Amino acid sequence: VSVRAIPADSALAAVRPEIRALATYAAPAASGPAPILKLDFNESPFDVPEEIKGVVLARLAERRWSLYPERRNPRLVEALAARLGVSPSELAVGNGSGELILAAVSVFAGQGGTLVLAPPTFSLYRQMAAISGARLSLVPRLGPDLAVDEEEVLARVAGTGAIPLVCSPNNPTGGVVSRELVRRLAAAASVVLLDQAYVDFAAEEDDALPLLPELPNLVVFRTLSKAYAAAGFRIGYVAARAGLLAEIEKAYLPYSVDHAAEELALALLERPEISRRLCALLASERERVAARLRQLSLAVPPSRSNFLFFAPRDGDGRALHARLLARGIAVRELHATHPGHLRVTVGSPEQNDLFLAVLAEEL
Ligand SMILES: Cc1ncc(COP(=O)(O)O)c(C=O)c1O
Repeated sequence: VSVRAIPADSALAAVRPEIRALATYAAPAASGPAPILKLDFNESPFDVPEEIKGVVLARLAERRWSLYPERRNPRLVEALAARLGVSPSELAVGNGSGELILAAVSVFAGQGGTLVLAPPTFSLYRQMAAISGARLSLVPRLGPDLAVDEEEVLARVAGTGAIPLVCSPNNPTGGVVSRELVRRLAAAASVVLLDQAYVDFAAEEDDALPLLPELPNLVVFRTLSKAYAAAGFRIGYVAARAGLLAEIEKAYLPYSVDHAAEELALALLERPEISRRLCALLASERERVAARLRQLSLAVPPSRSNFLFFAPRDGDGRALHARLLARGIAVRELHATHPGHLRVTVGSPEQNDLFLAVLAEEL
């Protein structure tokens, strides 16, 4: 076969249709200068402190880079378990919580199983379903607060084998589900997947980890990307009964938390007061920004995360997004999943002041 005879897009024709149909994740704007204010990825406005970077780099230099990390990162698992008050046998770490959620989706709903989602919710869940071959069953959120339609979700999972994947606090709307709903879901479904990437910004009662001893089929996902400002290093974890964890761990490849991520995570967990202080500051800033947005007559559902969901009164979120971007402020535009709406990450007090001033002018 001559190389020239191979049609250029024959390989593309071999791509699974579910993958072909996906949009590329949050593609950055193709042109224009980089934004001055980046409030579109729910990242921390505060970088890891220099002193912690120094500790991590020194410890990293001591390690043997030629060796694989220890299987299951036992030092990190122990440190996390001690911090969270759970047993190390009920924790596993991964390359960001995204990797762990994908593994669990694949284990419980892959190859034709059904995943129940409450949109608008984290956009990557759709990608995870496509990758693992799960079908989606969508239960739209209700009312001005975009609350989960609890009875409908329960009806979809009860006795059907469908698996609920609930995000609490929910990205992009910010709301939480009650412990009571988690209990009812656990009673109705074979397993409950609960993504708590943003729970460090929420209230104590929003934390689902205390339910683990009571609910043998609860799987909780967390991350150091948000509250610990470690998104650049990819450290997530999953908490569940040991038997369930062992199955989830079969669905992602070993050694996904490397030496660098492990050393950073250990150093951050040694200084929990830093994260606690910054989360408290961001939670109070969130309330300040939300109050100002409401003053500007924007509807903003209550948020327990580090972001706010809103829409301009004229319903043209895309136009407002473009105007903000032209002034150097990047927020997330949600037209594809929730037309008209935008999501803004809560920044430092100075960043929030700038965002609010520009927004007020553009409205
Ligand atoms: C709801 C939710 N879950 C999970 C993740 C993945 O986080 P990471 O893979 O960085 O731990 C994100 C990231 O934005 C998220 O918003």
